[in-house]
Amino acid sequence: WILMVTARTPTNIAVIKYWGKRDETLILPINDSISLTLDPTHLSTTTTVSVSPTFHQDRMWLNGKEISLQGGRFQSCLREIRARAQDVQDKKKGIDIKKEDWQKLHLHIASYNNFPTAAGLASSAAGLACLVFSLAKLMNLKEDNSQLSAIARQGSGSACRSLYGGFVKWVMGKEDNGSDSLAVQLADEKHWDELVIIIAVVSARQKETSSTSGMRDTVETSALIQHRAKEVVPKRIVQMEDAIQNRDFPSFARLACTDSNQFHAVCLDTYPPIFYMNDTSHRIISCVEKWNRAEGAPQVAYTFDAGPNAVMIARNRKTAALLLQRLLYNFPPESDTDLGRVNNFI
Ligand code: DP6
Repeated sequence: WILMVTARTPTNIAVIKYWGKRDETLILPINDSISLTLDPTHLSTTTTVSVSPTFHQDRMWLNGKEISLQGGRFQSCLREIRARAQDVQDKKKGIDIKKEDWQKLHLHIASYNNFPTAAGLASSAAGLACLVFSLAKLMNLKEDNSQLSAIARQGSGSACRSLYGGFVKWVMGKEDNGSDSLAVQLADEKHWDELVIIIAVVSARQKETSSTSGMRDTVETSALIQHRAKEVVPKRIVQMEDAIQNRDFPSFARLACTDSNQFHAVCLDTYPPIFYMNDTSHRIISCVEKWNRAEGAPQVAYTFDAGPNAVMIARNRKTAALLLQRLLYNFPPESDTDLGRVNNFI
C-alpha cells in the first residue's frame, strides 16, 4: 500500500521584516514581523508526501530533481512531526499505522515551486510551510496551524507565516525553547481583498548572500540592528496592526516602504555590506515614490526581500492596472533600457 497527501501553500511577503535571530538552531527572531500571504494560484509550492512499507529511505525531489535531506533544519522539522504523529487507519486499503510505526516508516516527498527558487521570492517560506502542513496531515497530527507554524519556523523563519492566509504576525516570543514563537492570523484573506500585488522579477538568479548568513553577519556587525529591533519595529508592529484593521492604505504603505528601506539600510550597515537591491530596484522605488507624491497620497507600496525583485502592493485593481502600464513603459520586459531591466511581471 501507499498513502499520499498533497497540499499547496502560497508564499508570504513581509511588510514588517524579520531580520536577525536570537537563537540560530531553533530559529528565534529578534523582532516580531507581519506579512501578507499571497493568493495560492500564483506563487506557491505544491508538495506530495507519501509513505509505504516498500520505501527504504526518506527521499525528496524539488522541481523534479532529487535533493539531500541531511540538512539539520529539515531533520528538526521531521523529528518534531514524527514525535507528534498519531495512528492512521484505512480499512479499505488495508492500512493500519500505529503512532510508533512512524519512527520506522520512510517518506517520499515531491515538491514543486511555480516561481524561481531562492531569488528573493521567499520560496523557502512556501516550501517549508507546505512540507510541514502536508506531513502533519499524512501523520494525522492534532496540532492547530499556530502550533504547526512553530515547527515550520524551525525549517525557515519566514515559513511560519505561510500557515495562514491573509495578514499574519509572527510573534517573536520570550521562551528559550521557542514554544511561544509562532504565527497568528491578524485578519483573513477576505478582510482587505482590494489589494493587488505586482512583482517585478528583476533577476531570477539565485541570490548571492542567503538570508540565513546575511542576518547572522548583520547581528554580529551592525550597530543599527539593535536600534531597529528594540526601538523601531515594536512601534511599527502596533501601527501596522492598526492600519490593517482599519484598511488604512496610506499608513499601510508608509510603514511597509519605510520598513523595507530600513531593512536594506541595516544590510548596508553590515560589515562587509550586503547589497540585495540593484540599480533597477532603486529606479522602481523612485518611480513609485514619484507617482505617490504626484497623487498626493500613497497609491502603491513597495517592499524588497533578500534580492532585487520588487514586490508592489496597489490599493485596488484600477491602481494596479495603471501601475503595470507605467512599469511596462519604463521597464519593457526582455529589453535593456536606460532605466534597467525587468525580466517579467507577475
Ligand atoms: C528578508 O526566513 O529566509 O525575507 O530563517 O534563516 O531561513 P531563515 O531566513 P528566512 O528570512 C527571510 C528574511 C526576509 C524578511 C521576512 O520574510 O520577514
